[in-house]
Amino acid sequence: MKKRHTIKSLQKMKGVEKIAMITAYDALFSNLFDGEIDIILVGDSLNMSFRGEPDTLSADMDIMIYHTKAVCKGATNTFIVADMPFGTYTTKEEALSNSIRFYRETCADAVKVEGGIERTETIRYLTQNGIAVVGHIGLMPQSFRGEGGYFVKGKDGDSFQKVLNDGLAVEKAGAFMVVVEGVKEELAKELAENLTIPVIGIGAGKDVDGQVLVWSDMLGFFDKFKPKFVKRYLDGGELVRQSVANYVKEVKEGLFPAKEHIY
Ligand code: KIV
Repeated sequence: MKKRHTIKSLQKMKGVEKIAMITAYDALFSNLFDGEIDIILVGDSLNMSFRGEPDTLSADMDIMIYHTKAVCKGATNTFIVADMPFGTYTTKEEALSNSIRFYRETCADAVKVEGGIERTETIRYLTQNGIAVVGHIGLMPQSFRGEGGYFVKGKDGDSFQKVLNDGLAVEKAGAFMVVVEGVKEELAKELAENLTIPVIGIGAGKDVDGQVLVWSDMLGFFDKFKPKFVKRYLDGGELVRQSVANYVKEVKEGLFPAKEHIY
């Protein structure tokens, strides 16, 4: 089946229509999002929200391939981006062989790599070898231990200029789109105005070409804490807890199964 979007159609949306992107980690939810959303990202955030790990760093290629395959089964109409996990693109050759795995073993249309100027050689090598690349700049979760925490970028002149330069470098290296995370809104605006490729924000304000959110945050299934930039569109966690409590009560009281559930 033909997908709704191609790289070209997504790029044409810049300045015309905002791009809506959401993460998915399995076929059940990717199927619900299929047809509603422009892009699905199989983000390594799954390591935290799906696998219960404290950060994204222990996700590996086998885990990401497993989840990307499942997402592909559920969302046959949607452009799918797979996250390259931490430590799998430290050299351009390693990046290429792991990207090739995504293309050979899943239906992913593109891969996402974190990094700015320091990642340009890799991005160039991937694109020269037929891999579509989404960049990821600003706050980069895979660098959080190295940086000693998660810090919003662009708060001072140096940080502002660095992220702007990163965006320009990533575009020049051949990325067809870039995600910018956790930056001041003026910086995100400047990026969107200066880059010709779509700039997708997360915690980056509204003056960008599109938005991405982690599905379990925006639907309230992960409700231990809510980052400031997340809007909850559903109170999923509460609905699940109430429904399960109701089921348990009905089982204990002999109310379930009722006549209509019995052969
Ligand atoms: O892993 C992820 O879900 C991401 C988004 C937060 C952009 O990289």
